[in-house]
Amino acid sequence: MASTPPTTAIPPRTWTRADSEFFISNDPSLLSVKAVNEAFGREFLYWGKPFPEEVMHQILHGSMSFGVYRQTQPKPEDGPFSPTAESTEQIGLARMVTDGSTFGYLSDVYVLPEYQGHGLGKWLMNCVVEVFSKENMPYLRRIMLLTGDKRVQDFYSKIFGMKVIGHEQRPDIGQDLVFMCARPNAPE
Ligand SMILES: CC(C)(COP(=O)(O)OP(=O)(O)OC[C@H]1O[C@@H](n2cnc3c(N)ncnc32)[C@H](O)[C@@H]1OP(=O)(O)O)[C@@H](O)C(=O)NCCC(=O)NCCS
Repeated sequence: MASTPPTTAIPPRTWTRADSEFFISNDPSLLSVKAVNEAFGREFLYWGKPFPEEVMHQILHGSMSFGVYRQTQPKPEDGPFSPTAESTEQIGLARMVTDGSTFGYLSDVYVLPEYQGHGLGKWLMNCVVEVFSKENMPYLRRIMLLTGDKRVQDFYSKIFGMKVIGHEQRPDIGQDLVFMCARPNAPE
């Protein structure tokens, strides 16, 4: 399936750590529709369900999507690190629905359960925060999200400075969701 350009003029980036088989990237060419659909079919992702492939492709490429990846082939000893979809496995996602300048809605954040609790989620959020920083997006007005998990709520407050601004009862998924919002460029 052909890749569509990202929704922002900010060029894609890849974040690596020495001696780690994991990396994070918002390069759209690395995204795996199959891996994300498989994750959406699992129980831990309580809000999701798989989509037809072309719909999932549109969802991922119509947003600024940050993937968490595991290298399945060794990194080159020297020379630049240029991962491809063939040499990686996608194990996490954070998707920012954004105009690339003023607004972002953060959605579908996950790390597969077998890789949770090792700092990958925090790293993923720090990469998102870096892209949606004052320096990169001086006109950014608001970032929003919805979540149902108290632990995750604390996690977003700490990393993004998110505040709870409202609630939504969702008996269909057995959750009381909270709306959270951050205004990173608001005057102190
Ligand atoms: C939330 C999530 C992305 C964090 O990823 P992770 O790699 O496990 O996170 P880290 O190891 O970097 O830990 C960061 C924080 O995540 C939270 N966290 C860690 N494991 C978690 C778990 N299993 N469930 C919920 N929150 C968890 C903790 O608050 C932790 O902060 P702490 O170390 O200060 O306590 C991951 O747990 C996940 O995919 N959960 C299920 C899906 C989900 O609820 N997504 C958010 C929807 S809004």
